[in-house]
Amino acid sequence: MRDRLAWLLPCVGLGLLLAVFLYRILAAQTRLPLPPGPQALPFVGNVMDMVKADGWDTYHKWATEHGDVVYVMVMGQPVVLLNSHETATDLLVKRSAIYSDRPAFTMASKVGGNEKIMAVAQYHRPLKTMRRWFSLVMGTRTSDHFWALQDQMIKGFIKNVYRDILNGDSDGTNLQTRIRWSAAATTLRIAYGYSATLEDDPILKQVNPAVRDFLEACKPGWLVNVIPALRHLPTWFPGASFLKIGKQWKNRLESLAQDPVDFVKEQMMNGVAPLSFTRELLEEHGQKMTIEEELDIKWAAFALFSGGTDTVSSTVYAFYLAMTLHPEIQRRAQAELDRVLAGRRLPNLHDRQAGALPYIDALVKELTRWAPVLPAGIPHVLRQEDEYRGWRIPKGTYVIANLWTISRDETIYPNPIEFRPERFLTKEHGGDCATQDDIPMDPSKINFGYGKRGCPGRHLAELGVWLSVAMSLAVYNINVIDGHIPSSTNYERSSISRPRPFKCHITIRSQQAEELIRAIPDDDATAWVQPYAKKDSSAFD
Ligand code: HEM
Repeated sequence: MRDRLAWLLPCVGLGLLLAVFLYRILAAQTRLPLPPGPQALPFVGNVMDMVKADGWDTYHKWATEHGDVVYVMVMGQPVVLLNSHETATDLLVKRSAIYSDRPAFTMASKVGGNEKIMAVAQYHRPLKTMRRWFSLVMGTRTSDHFWALQDQMIKGFIKNVYRDILNGDSDGTNLQTRIRWSAAATTLRIAYGYSATLEDDPILKQVNPAVRDFLEACKPGWLVNVIPALRHLPTWFPGASFLKIGKQWKNRLESLAQDPVDFVKEQMMNGVAPLSFTRELLEEHGQKMTIEEELDIKWAAFALFSGGTDTVSSTVYAFYLAMTLHPEIQRRAQAELDRVLAGRRLPNLHDRQAGALPYIDALVKELTRWAPVLPAGIPHVLRQEDEYRGWRIPKGTYVIANLWTISRDETIYPNPIEFRPERFLTKEHGGDCATQDDIPMDPSKINFGYGKRGCPGRHLAELGVWLSVAMSLAVYNINVIDGHIPSSTNYERSSISRPRPFKCHITIRSQQAEELIRAIPDDDATAWVQPYAKKDSSAFD
């Protein structure tokens, strides 16, 4: 009996193993195929292509070769690229209930302290609450409670450029710094009612290192992203220096997020806090505020401030590049401004609201299409296995809306490489389209992302970009410097795309323009967020 058992047990074991093996083969055969994609190397997959400096160019190439849904594998992590507006809408918008998480980049989130940052957070309660606050404050296209503030901040930018010109800098040496300061100072006022100084501001000084840390943390290559348990190693453990680096990042970030909130609290105690996102939320929650709620307020305000700085400033800097390269478009836009304003005043957001400057509107649309700030958006993560067009998309797949390729879709934007505002105008307004219905889709439907993670700062961003464009063209000529034609494709290629520093010749358009600039008051600390009725917008649900 014992002998028979000794013989039987291995046989049963082997039989079971065989059954599991056959089941796996059979299941794989009956399972739907994965979407098409480039050939992957064993184990590392397509990682070598994904980490190339020309990131979104590679995605664009894959889209041309494999179609509008592309599957790639990166070190065992499935990634799907959505290369058309249709596929991005089908999955990220229509199935947003399962496509709205974010990758758990352990190095950036748990180790580097970014896990509460909205763009990185999972689609759970705190994020939903923060998005709702954004929606209440900036969920409508008009958002006229920001107009006075935007007007003052962008006038301040115009005056700063003027001062640079008087000081002998008319070749755009300081331009990028001026644009960035204006965007950051605007969001600081909205988020905290904090008025930044032009030089050496204690809060703004901390921003560059924190942005650098974040971009570094998001780079591929951190082993802890592949093996999250490594974050529990003791810091003295050989090879665990990444934990010390992460701790430094965490401390820097913590102080950048906390200092302005402490500032608001102090101002509130002294009864002098101007209306701001943080003040309003702190007041609303009052004495009963829990520690968790206070943390949510802190990180939501930080998202407002940080999310609105590099994005808006990169777009405005790309506008100066576009104007340097396209003098004929610049002249057309200026002719429209002169017709409407007669050189007697600067443009304002009432002009935008009234649709009084259609060529400027078209130029801004073309700018956001031509220079997407986040060419690959921010990856979404799929919560459960899904099926689409007969393909299987595994649970946990990173899903990337390939905004670069979508905004270059020839079926929507013919001749997409060309910078051409006329594509958004009817013939009646000197554009390409026979009727209003022929005008192609507004690129803001693409470049602010898709679904429940779409950009919650979109309307604020649009106000700032529009006004910067209109005011700059009203008073300045932006020309190429002989022998320094900037490249239209020389962009910094990290998660955020912005033109690399370039030279351009900035001159004051006329004596009238100079008078308008000189009339801008030097003291720019008076405009704040105006009182407003809170309106929720379904766009941010
Ligand atoms: C031209 C300017 C801007 C562009 C092109 C832009 C674009 C984007 C894109 C593509 C996303 C990712 C959407 C997705 O995952 O599908 C995003 C997310 C985000 N943006 Fe913007 N953005 C801009 C300005 C702003 C401004 C002014 C703010 C703040 C006031 C802001 C705050 C955010 C936040 C907090 C997120 C993360 C949302 C989430 O993950 O739920 N952005 N933005």
